[in-house]
Amino acid sequence: MLELSMHILDIVQNSLRAQARRVEVRILEDLERDLLRIEVLDDGRGMPPDILKRVIDPFYTTRPARVAGLGIPFLKEAAERCGGGLEVQSQEGKGTRIVATFQLDHFDRAPLGDLGETMAILITGNPGVDFFYEHRVDGRVYRLDTAEMRAVLGTVGLEDPSVFSLIQADIREGLKKIGASTFPKIAGILRGPQSP
Ligand SMILES: Nc1ncnc2c1ncn2[C@@H]1O[C@H](COP(=O)(O)OP(=O)(O)O)[C@@H](O)[C@H]1O
Ligand SMILES: [Mg+2]
Repeated sequence: MLELSMHILDIVQNSLRAQARRVEVRILEDLERDLLRIEVLDDGRGMPPDILKRVIDPFYTTRPARVAGLGIPFLKEAAERCGGGLEVQSQEGKGTRIVATFQLDHFDRAPLGDLGETMAILITGNPGVDFFYEHRVDGRVYRLDTAEMRAVLGTVGLEDPSVFSLIQADIREGLKKIGASTFPKIAGILRGPQSP
């Protein structure tokens, strides 16, 4: 079972390979509706209709080799296993939108993982791309926008080594504040009450 952040990393890598200049990652945790929604939106080259049709087929890839357990079909499988599903919208020359939904509290739902690290890797590794990350837990929201960060950083580029830990810390802190679920309930139960 892969942490969902690994799936996000993988899905965003598709966007980067499609020459996206802006990528949005939007996560929603709706406790009342027991819903986790992960959305990745890009302005890359999009998919021609034939690829769009096959993209959810586990045996299809336009690349010769792929890491087992990754790719769009595996995210779909993970979502469906948790009472959710996956939707892909794509338009050539416009971009792509991928939405995965999960039952938030589902026993089989993988932990979200370390989104601070994941986003920091993506942002500092692709300084020419704009990233927008939004994470909502009920009414509370955390946002990070590299377009805004650029203005604050001035001459320090997003690829600067200091920026990695800055982003990572900001996200970890921000997610803690809004009460994002880094681990599913069962992990909390297994860890016991005295652990952090
Ligand atoms: N965001 C995207 N923009 C354009 N094409 C995409 C995007 N995501 C996926 N694709 C197309 O769908 C194919 C399948 O994606 P995926 O399931 O991640 O497998 P892989 O990346 O290993 O080929 C990609 O090879 C690519 O042709
Ligand atoms: Mg891929």
